[in-house]
This record gives sequence, structure tokens and C-alpha cells, in this order.
Amino acid sequence: MYSKKVMENFMNPKNVGEIDDASGIGEVGNAKCGDIMKVYLKIEDGIIKDAKFKTFGCGAAIATSSMATQMIIGKTVQEALELTNKAVVEALDGLPPIKLHCSVLAEEAVHAALWDYAKKNNIEIKGLKPPKEDISH
Ligand code: FES
Repeated sequence: MYSKKVMENFMNPKNVGEIDDASGIGEVGNAKCGDIMKVYLKIEDGIIKDAKFKTFGCGAAIATSSMATQMIIGKTVQEALELTNKAVVEALDGLPPIKLHCSVLAEEAVHAALWDYAKKNNIEIKGLKPPKEDISH
């Protein structure tokens, strides 16, 4: 049912944890299942230097946040914004259709963290929309 890459990222997720002096923090919830994800970004000179996450959620949510954080480290803020849940799912060699909604959480959490970063630094990130629901406060 799950690809080898999904299992690897679920059993041994990368980038789990927090960043104390994070440049941006995003927390989102999945209305369908009630799972919650928090993403921490360390951004210097417009580059994602580090990304960490905490997920109170299912295996697919853990695997997608592990993969999404790996994919955005070293990228520019704009490139991180452009990372879609579809690209993350492809990098994981797919998810069962019933678990596709779980991958949206990682994309939304990254966007929410970028939004927080932009707000704190009073900058505009082209194409970035405010998080649907801000549950970080
Ligand atoms: Fe909730 Fe997967 S079932 S994120």
C-alpha cells in the first residue's frame, strides 16, 4: 500500500523537532482528520538554512513533512513557496489516493511559516497567500 520511500520517511523521519530562533513558524490543522502540523524555518539572506517539523498526525503526514522539509532546505524562499504537495508526493513515489489530503498539510504548514517570516520582516513574498486558518496563537 505504501511505497518504500514513504515507509523510510515514516519510520525514520528527517528534520523532526523545533528551531529555537526560527525565522518563521507555521501551524496548520487538517479539518478532515484533526491532525496538526507545525513547521519551523530558519531563513538567512532569503535562503532556507534549516527546516524542522512536529506532526501530531498520521504516517502519511509524517512522511510528507519529512520529505517536504528535506526538499526546501537550501532553496530560496520563492522556491520553497513553489513546492507543491504534488511534488512532495511524487518524491515519495506516491501515496494511496485516500491519503493524498494528508500531503496538503505539509504544503500549508510551509506556506504558513513563510507567511509568519514575511510578516515579522515586513516583506512581501510574491504569490504567498495568508494561511487559511492561523492557529499558531
Ligand atoms: Fe490526518 Fe493524514 S489522516 S493528516
